[in-house]
Amino acid sequence: MKKILITRRLLRSCEDKAKELFDANFNLNDELYSQNKIVELSQGCDGILSSLTEKLDANTINRLPESVKIISQFAVGFGNIDLIAAKSRGITVTNTPDVLTDATAEIGVLLILGACRRASEGIERAKLGGWVWAADMLIGKQLTGSRLGILGMGRIGQKIAKTAKALGMIIHYHNRSRLSEDKEQGAIYHDNLKDLMSVSDVLSVCCPASNETVDMINKDTIEYLPKGAIVTNIARGDIIDDDALIDALDRRKVYAVGLDVYKNEPNLNPGYFRHKSAFILPHVGSATKETRTAMANLAIQNLEEFFRTGGCKNKVN
Ligand code: GLV
Repeated sequence: MKKILITRRLLRSCEDKAKELFDANFNLNDELYSQNKIVELSQGCDGILSSLTEKLDANTINRLPESVKIISQFAVGFGNIDLIAAKSRGITVTNTPDVLTDATAEIGVLLILGACRRASEGIERAKLGGWVWAADMLIGKQLTGSRLGILGMGRIGQKIAKTAKALGMIIHYHNRSRLSEDKEQGAIYHDNLKDLMSVSDVLSVCCPASNETVDMINKDTIEYLPKGAIVTNIARGDIIDDDALIDALDRRKVYAVGLDVYKNEPNLNPGYFRHKSAFILPHVGSATKETRTAMANLAIQNLEEFFRTGGCKNKVN
């Protein structure tokens, strides 16, 4: 039986499945392992089932034992793993695409709704009590007729586009390349970020974090947005320069934000807490029973496929 390290707890049924297939080392207390601990616990392992909470940088990867041949990431995003270091050590890295598209897009739409319709303030007001209905209470921004700019029109971006379109939004997008007409579904393509931002009443960040996208939403690019725009992020915190976004909220250049992901999670920039309009969630994009089960099962299947064939259809490096 192949030996694997599973760095975080999975849902029970998935741990049972891993137990059947592998000699698995589970993290029973679901603690956050340090990089040293990961190196120590992977001794004698053939593979690692990792999650986005571990930083598998070059230094850590170079210290992994020779026996480790695969890192199967329990997420679609893999910005926490140095793919080049893994490749040069001959380690295959895989991820879990597709299975989390719907759940993540649901939260993407929730961020848009929550930020536009002032959900955080509404929840606070309702809990506080003593409020009286009034014609001008908590006036928000209506989605119908608003322009939604999608940055990164991959699977999740396309699903958000479809749902937002059903809500009456007009969809614009920027992507490295233009989609085919059937995937575009009437969305308007912009071949550069500036053009997309300048028509985005609401911006939805859906692109992966990479060297090219880190801090893409920054002091300069925020200025392209129309005044009073809304910024949402379902992808990765690294794509946004928080100080610039908080400054834009302070100046009311940006009306509200809807965020599920942050730089330095879980220690988000405290500037967001100053803004009652900030609709913020703790990285729950894929958090449904169906999706987390499908993700873990796919991460397990990726390991199984790799050990059986030496390859894997979800290899990313
Ligand atoms: C979640 O954030 C993922 O990348 O799967």
